[in-house]
Amino acid sequence: MKVLFISSEVFPLMKTGGLADVSGSLPAALSALGHDVRILMPAYPEAIAAAETPKQLSLRQAGSQLTLLSTRLPGTAVPLWLLDAPASFGRFGNPYLAPNGAPWPDNAERFALLARVAVDLTQDRLGLGWKPDVVHCNDWQTGLIPPLLSDEPSRPAVLFTVHNLAYQGLFPYETFQRLALPPRLWKMEALEFYGQLSFIKGGLVFADRINTVSPSYAEEIQTPEFGCGLDGLLRSRRSCLSGILNGIDDVAWNPATDPHLPATYGPDTLERKKINRAALRQRFGLPDDQEVAVLGMVGRMVEQKGVDLLIDILDDLLQLPVQLVILGSGDKEFERSFERAAAACPERIAVTIGYDEPLAHLIEAGADIFLMPSRFEPCGLNQLYSQRYGTVPIVRKVGGLADTVEDATPERIAAGQASGIVFETAKPAFLLEAIYRALALYREPEVWRAICKCGMTKDFSWRKSASQYVELYREALAGLNAGRS
Ligand code: ADP
Ligand code: GLC
Repeated sequence: MKVLFISSEVFPLMKTGGLADVSGSLPAALSALGHDVRILMPAYPEAIAAAETPKQLSLRQAGSQLTLLSTRLPGTAVPLWLLDAPASFGRFGNPYLAPNGAPWPDNAERFALLARVAVDLTQDRLGLGWKPDVVHCNDWQTGLIPPLLSDEPSRPAVLFTVHNLAYQGLFPYETFQRLALPPRLWKMEALEFYGQLSFIKGGLVFADRINTVSPSYAEEIQTPEFGCGLDGLLRSRRSCLSGILNGIDDVAWNPATDPHLPATYGPDTLERKKINRAALRQRFGLPDDQEVAVLGMVGRMVEQKGVDLLIDILDDLLQLPVQLVILGSGDKEFERSFERAAAACPERIAVTIGYDEPLAHLIEAGADIFLMPSRFEPCGLNQLYSQRYGTVPIVRKVGGLADTVEDATPERIAAGQASGIVFETAKPAFLLEAIYRALALYREPEVWRAICKCGMTKDFSWRKSASQYVELYREALAGLNAGRS
């Protein structure tokens, strides 16, 4: 099957979160299954710099000049096109936000351009000599592709993957006019959302199949609590909506070979994990006390991730034998709260504000416990990495966290099937109680080791999920063909 995979971020060319990890590993897994997958993404300066020997293709699009840089997803044979439009994408840093933290004022134009190029590519109007059978769109940045394709008499099947329903790409009506989108798209059954232009609705309304990144999230978004105002639409498309768990890049995230770690290790050499913990502590000037557990957290500091729950219990944590190591960036208020706590208690709390891939690996390996108290979580990758690294995750029972972590109940511990601590309610007291529970188990080394090993030996590779995507592509194609006949 020929698949065009479009994403606004692809690791290692550009990454702000899990979307990049998925976009950098799923296409390779599909290609290993024998499919002809090609990626299209914007040519941000960092992406151009990280691309291997990019070749410039000067093409014509609707009478004007267009440049694509043709390369491969680094370390793989997967072809990748970078849309080289300097006026739109030639900006360093976060691809969506200006340095002042606000969205770039021309985000709608930028991602509409990506959509138009994608559509022309599928119709081979750019003269690349390749036409996909399936277009795989990801999140709101690609949301205009399905509606624009619906105007094409001969179009590929479309799958739209929701990585996070909370980010919708909403813009005023004037933007809809400025983008010169077909007027028929301005209605509730298309792109209009309470008087605004919604990019994500393009995917949700016009794709042949919709999926999310875990089965639980696929159910949750059909409810008012998690549906972000789109639950009615999603319920109406229930028969085309499913969930497929994300896999991980098990080469990049392998504690046995990870180049970012002072000591590599596996399930049978778990004692070496302590060397990484000592290195992590040394880096932050935390005392290397064997009796004290290190709690780690890596991620975007936003409400979704439940960081405020952690902030609320910082005083309580100081009463416990724990140290806290945090890496992330996001809401300034959350950043400042953590910085203040670290300044007041530098021998117990360490915080790095910013983005640091090697440090994320060291925290995954050096911490004893990983915190992910998310309010909602479409899939989540860090709890997968932490299980693979023998770092017991504490997660809230929601979305992909509920689908990938087995709570350490006495029964599961006895059966060797416990891989973390799961708590129900997004309130500080419940997180604190989960931490107490984890620390009680931590004091039983045999039990703790069994929980670590259970997580480390689980299969988080793309093997199963990539085949499920192929199945979904087939269904999307079958749906398209049935509609035609
Ligand atoms: P989300 O996509 O919602 O941010 P995920 O758990 O799916 O959450 O993926 C987050 C990814 O981004 C992980 O690979 C994580 O390690 C990485 N990440 C997040 N924040 C940082 C940071 N500050 N430094 C390094 N890596 C980070
Ligand atoms: C989103 C979600 C996260 C998911 C990632 C990759 O950013 O917040 O839960 O793992 O996309 O699908």
